[in-house]
Order: sequence, then C-alpha cells, then structure tokens
Amino acid sequence: MKTAIYPGTFDPITYGHLDLVHRGLRIFEEIIIAVAASPKKQPLFSLKERLELIRESVRDDRNVRVEAFNGLLVDYAKSRGGVAIIRGLRAVSDFEYELQMALMNRRLDMTVETVFMMPSEEYSFLTSTIVKEAASFGGSVKGLVPEGVEEALREKFRMVKNLAE
Ligand code: COA
Repeated sequence: MKTAIYPGTFDPITYGHLDLVHRGLRIFEEIIIAVAASPKKQPLFSLKERLELIRESVRDDRNVRVEAFNGLLVDYAKSRGGVAIIRGLRAVSDFEYELQMALMNRRLDMTVETVFMMPSEEYSFLTSTIVKEAASFGGSVKGLVPEGVEEALREKFRMVKNLAE
C-alpha cells in the first residue's frame, strides 16, 4: 500500500486542501492528513477542533486518515510507512519556502520524497489565512470551505466578538 502524508496546520481545512487530498488519492492508495499543533502560529482553532473539522470533511472518503503529529515530519512519515509527503503549490510565492522545506526534509531522510501538487485554479488564491480574514469581518466563505467549517468560523468569531464587547 503506497501511503502519502499530507501535513499542515489546517487552521481551518479549506476546499483547496480537500482538492489536493482527492488529487493525491489518484496517485496514492492511502493519504494520511497529518495535523501539526503549530503553536507558534497561534491557530484560531485548537488541535482537537481542527482534527474534528477535517474528519467531518473527509468522512465519505475511503483511504483517508486524519491524525495529529508532533516532532519531525520525516520521522512521523516513516513511522506510518509513508513514501511521500504531499505539499500544495498555489503560486510562485509558495515555491521558495516549499523548496527549502523539501530539501531539508530530504537531508533529514533521503527515503521520503516530497510531491508537489497544484490545486484546481479556482482555489489557487485560497489560504486558511485569507479565509479567516474574510470570515472575521463577516464576509461569506461559502464555496471555499466545507459547511461545517463555515459554521465553526461563524461560531468562533461570534465568541471572539462577544469577548471583546
Ligand atoms: N500565522 C498563522 N497562519 C499562517 C501564518 C502565520 N504567521 N503563515 C501562514 N499561515 C497559514 C497560511 O494561511 C497557510 O494556509 P494554507 O494551509 O491554506 O496554505 C498555512 O498557514 C501555510 O503554512 P505553512 O507553514 O506553509 O504550512 P503548514 O502550517 O500548513 O505546515 C508543516 C507546515 C507542519 C508541514 C511544517 O512546519 C512541519 O513539517 N513541521 C514539523 C517539523 C518539521 O519536520 N519541519 C521540517 C523540517 S525543518
């Protein structure tokens, strides 16, 4: 079974991420969405919330697993029998950082390949950050994130607003 690891913070998961998962399933037999706590990024959603939102979003997808990970990504990938790390490339601006990360991961472990995939054009501008920005001001993110995520964003920003008042 060829397993690929799709790592990220997923704060929150978007249709761009899901598009990559579905593309990845055409190449790999199993995909593990590996969710990093990423405390330095001060995520809006807790790790537990992110895992729940992702699990709900992929509940109909066979051969997709969702797990939290910590430590080095390559160590985690090996522990799960992963042969590849999937990363999305949306625009040229993603490239430099992704190249650094891929080469560092290769240096750490030569046996795990990084595979870059491009999301569908309609999601090429989409980032979790831009989704949060729009939602925080009450903008609609319909069609950009699954319905459960839309609702969770509404709820989260309602709570933030109430706390601020
Ligand atoms: N604050 C909050 N969110 C931010 C941000 C910031 N300063 N900068 C970027 N983001 C958001 C963006 O919206 C973007 O969203 P997207 O998921 O829609 O693309 C996302 O975070 C991109 O961040 P990026 O750092 O590219 O990737 P990631 O957070 O999804 O994943 C890991 C990075 C987890 C894969 C990587 O840090 C990792 O492997 N960590 C484990 C340790 C390790 O092995 N490191 C590699 C060896 S050096």
